[in-house]
Amino acid sequence: MEVVIVSDAAASGTLVAGAIAECVRQRPNAVLGLATGSSPLPVYRDLERRVKEGSLSLAHCKAFLLDEYVGLSAGHPQSYRATIQREVIDRLDIPAEAVLGPDGSAEDLPAACAAYEEAIKAAGGVDLQLLGIGSDGHIGFNEPVSSFASRTRVKTLTAQTRTDNARFFGSEEEVPWHVITQGVGTILEARHLVLVVTGESKADAVAQAVEGPISAFMPASALQLHPHSTLVADEAAASQLKLAQYYRQTYETKPSWQGL
Ligand code: F6R
Repeated sequence: MEVVIVSDAAASGTLVAGAIAECVRQRPNAVLGLATGSSPLPVYRDLERRVKEGSLSLAHCKAFLLDEYVGLSAGHPQSYRATIQREVIDRLDIPAEAVLGPDGSAEDLPAACAAYEEAIKAAGGVDLQLLGIGSDGHIGFNEPVSSFASRTRVKTLTAQTRTDNARFFGSEEEVPWHVITQGVGTILEARHLVLVVTGESKADAVAQAVEGPISAFMPASALQLHPHSTLVADEAAASQLKLAQYYRQTYETKPSWQGL
């Protein structure tokens, strides 16, 4: 895993948007994996800047969301579909119909999960998957002890995640208990994983994911198994990494042609 330590959230946005732009330059019909929550927002804002200045177009790309809440009414402002509509589809030039997410309001949820796996496969898999990390180490909504072989399925959120996500809802009671998420095994099939993380509250999870043992108890440690995974952390999120100085030096001396 490559660890890149940046000064702040804005710097994480510029760096990761640059990697996405390069991916799309090489493959204009790239398949992107999108995350929701706060962490990827600087990335989306920098992509928007590039699209508006004409240096990037996502018009031929496809995108897949990582996860979705189960049981929110259609168009609920905190559904991940509605969030991606606001933050990505309405502001960039990717067509709405090219952006798919798990159907959290399906009557037959297992069938919706299987259909989602098929859709990712039919698109040829994900070229670059954006990820955030929960304070309990989740990626997607794969909470602790999720199998590394897991596929898209229904999961129950931990109390910690419902507390963390209450800021997006009126109260904690309004945060759904259930979600559909791509499995850890699904995520690991993307060709490049890019995890963006900012803030002191994630420092412990980051240290465990990067430098701790590979364990289903820390789902983000699955990135250690991936041949091309990048973790971009601000100083606060990187503050508990034992080898922080080594990661800084490695990145500073990296040949520029290598990219992320
Ligand atoms: C969201 C997702 C989650 C978040 C994580 C961090 O699609 O898959 O894993 O990335 O909960 O959320 P933020 O960025 O809001 O701290």
